[in-house]
Amino acid sequence: MAVSRRELIVAGLIGAAAAACSPASTAPTTSPTPSGEVVAFPQGFAWGVATSAYQIEGSVAAGGRTPSIWDTFAASGGIQDHSSGAVACDHYVRWKTDLDLMKELGVTSYRFSVAWPRIQPTRGAKPNAEGLAFYNQLVDGLLSRGIAPVATLYHWDLPQYFEDAGGWESRDSAGWFADYAAVVFDALGDRVSSWVTVNEAKIIVQGGYQGGFMAPGKRDQKASGQVLHHLNLAHGRAVQAFRASTAKGTIGPCLQLAPCYPADDSAAAKTATALADLTENRLYLDPLLTGAYPKDLDTLDADFAAGIKGAVQPEDAAVIASKVDFVGVNYYSPVVMGPGGAQTRYPQAANGWQQIYPQGLADVLTRVHHDYGQPVQVVLENGVPDAPGQDPLHDASRIDFLKQHLHAAAGAIEAGVRLTGFHTWSLMDNFEWFAGYTQRYGLVRIDFTTQERVQKDSARWYADVARTNAIPA
Ligand code: FCB
Repeated sequence: MAVSRRELIVAGLIGAAAAACSPASTAPTTSPTPSGEVVAFPQGFAWGVATSAYQIEGSVAAGGRTPSIWDTFAASGGIQDHSSGAVACDHYVRWKTDLDLMKELGVTSYRFSVAWPRIQPTRGAKPNAEGLAFYNQLVDGLLSRGIAPVATLYHWDLPQYFEDAGGWESRDSAGWFADYAAVVFDALGDRVSSWVTVNEAKIIVQGGYQGGFMAPGKRDQKASGQVLHHLNLAHGRAVQAFRASTAKGTIGPCLQLAPCYPADDSAAAKTATALADLTENRLYLDPLLTGAYPKDLDTLDADFAAGIKGAVQPEDAAVIASKVDFVGVNYYSPVVMGPGGAQTRYPQAANGWQQIYPQGLADVLTRVHHDYGQPVQVVLENGVPDAPGQDPLHDASRIDFLKQHLHAAAGAIEAGVRLTGFHTWSLMDNFEWFAGYTQRYGLVRIDFTTQERVQKDSARWYADVARTNAIPA
């Protein structure tokens, strides 16, 4: 069965009341055409690759780690190919090989995530020295290879014991997260370049609590609203903990943004687009960057809106809007809304939920720039799965994808956007959440039987980009 993340997400949103606010302009039908010339990036631009702990580490019972909600979700049959992250890329064992690979690619930045259940495997106990040691050596290994560590604190692997204690539905979760973050800042804060708080609160809300196709697999609109607010609060509390610590470096959120376009000029399409923009973007951007939730919350599903409003306490707004140093942007796909719902207008990637529209990246970056006070931005994820039927190593479609998206990023910089780096998803094929091992996003191919790593053509191409600090013609 082809499971479409986008369809599942939309399913979770259906039933939302109509919105009456200004829509984005009608969807353009063409993508930017790369110029055929070499396009240089600003000096010092960070060229990176991204991964996350549960998707690559494996060794889920090693080093004192205890289960996260994703171990539980996988065990309950939530994954398309009935797999789990139990072995994944065996990175917990092979991390040195992977760092060497990155060095070979010449990337200057590596976005990874810290597994919360490795750092605090049991509630209330002292932090786990073995867990901290793993990330210590990883960070040192990066630095010795000239690669800047970009550490994400939460990439979806909530310790199961916290889920059992109420999870993100509980307001206490923000405090749990701040305590954990403080431990990690203390351990690694003298060497990590940039910290990322929460990865894609939106996908947690939509996939974990509305569509139910991601951990913890719930379908509860009211809970999803509470979770949204608590994730925002957790972000703010972590930023505060960072400022209170002696950690160096910078900190920011990671938001998956989707430009929303009306499919036609009809009032219904414009209304649907405004609602999509609220659920895709403004619910996350506004509280973090303007200090207030959007005024049109009443256009959301009533239970979803009630969940958000019921969770908010007066003092939260200032915490959530704690000043950040950058906005991390993950961009995969636009949303095109017609009168009858979401439409597919652009070429679809193999994952079934991603429409390939490079100009969308420029659109989200310039939008954040203009509407949210011209912050420094970093692309923390952008990528595409292998195309169906392609040669395993000759991934011309990924090169084309990256090339076009980099042209869009360059265009945004040209237009004044303060973009300082780009991380492609992903360094290597890995455990793709509910799709298991059926979708390969890596620059490097993994043979999941032998754990052999082999560079795809895109890896060589990206190495060239990083080395020359430019998009080749
Ligand atoms: C993003 C996730 C990342 C990966 C890509 C394909 O939403 O942050 O872990 O799964 O999608």
